[in-house]
Amino acid sequence: MSQKVTKAIFPVAGLGTRFLPATKSIPKEIMTLVDRPLIQYAIDEARAAGIEEFIFVTSRGKGALEDYFDHSHELEASLKARGKAELLKVLQATNMDSGAIAYVRQHKALGLGHAVWCARRLMAPDEPFAVLLTDDVILGEPPCLQQMIEAYAETGGSMVATMEVAPEKTSSYGVLDVAEDMGAIVRARGLVEKPPAGAAPSNLAVIGRYILAPTVMQNLHHTQEGSGGEIQLTDAIADELAAGRDVFGLRFRGQRYDCGSKAGFLQATVAFGLAREDLRDEFSEYLDDIRAATSRAAE
Ligand code: G1P
Repeated sequence: MSQKVTKAIFPVAGLGTRFLPATKSIPKEIMTLVDRPLIQYAIDEARAAGIEEFIFVTSRGKGALEDYFDHSHELEASLKARGKAELLKVLQATNMDSGAIAYVRQHKALGLGHAVWCARRLMAPDEPFAVLLTDDVILGEPPCLQQMIEAYAETGGSMVATMEVAPEKTSSYGVLDVAEDMGAIVRARGLVEKPPAGAAPSNLAVIGRYILAPTVMQNLHHTQEGSGGEIQLTDAIADELAAGRDVFGLRFRGQRYDCGSKAGFLQATVAFGLAREDLRDEFSEYLDDIRAATSRAAE
């Protein structure tokens, strides 16, 4: 029913101003949760879902992100010479095949839809593609994009990851208008980007994982400025519905962290620290200690 999805677009052109001053000199996608940059989590998730080609939409000042994916031959040789087999394995797991990564520039910050559209020449006219937003880090088993690929194999069309958010938060997200709720999968009748408070059609928010029909890229040729004066991906997906094509949401299984916000980033740091076998005991002991100290101080 559906075509295989082998290409993914990673819009990574954002300035990351919420993380200044750190982002003065490092791209926010290089910021680390424990010891892995945010971008590595997204790449690993895409690979697990069968993605073979990775397209980064970058901008000025993202050089460190491009360098990150170079093979580090000197470092590998030095680790090998020193018998550091474990570290060598960690490093080699980040190596990408030659030609598997392509970079295109977004010259103006015109919005997420525009960023995705910047990759149009790297797509065949008839191929579906994935989009992953690195700010949304998701702990899930199987990983979120793989869950979506499996669901999409049944549904075809276009699919967004979705989860329920508190009603007062809907204005920060793309929101689904639900035509049919089938449990894990919902069929959309509309999508609205950042609806004003009180005007959201539901509290099902779009989370940054997408599998998109090739027609979404065509829609982006004509998408006008929308919410915030930007060209919105949500609007190009909503155009699919207007054209009579299907859009689904998948309520994925897993925990999502909003690493575009400082509080979300800190929560993710704690969660990923606790998820790591090599750190769990020491770290949770520390967390217990500070919790006990805080409640003693409050007495
Ligand atoms: C983007 C999308 C929005 C989506 C959100 C998920 O918004 O435009 O539809 O709900 O990501 O994180 P942003 O957070 O970049 O403003």
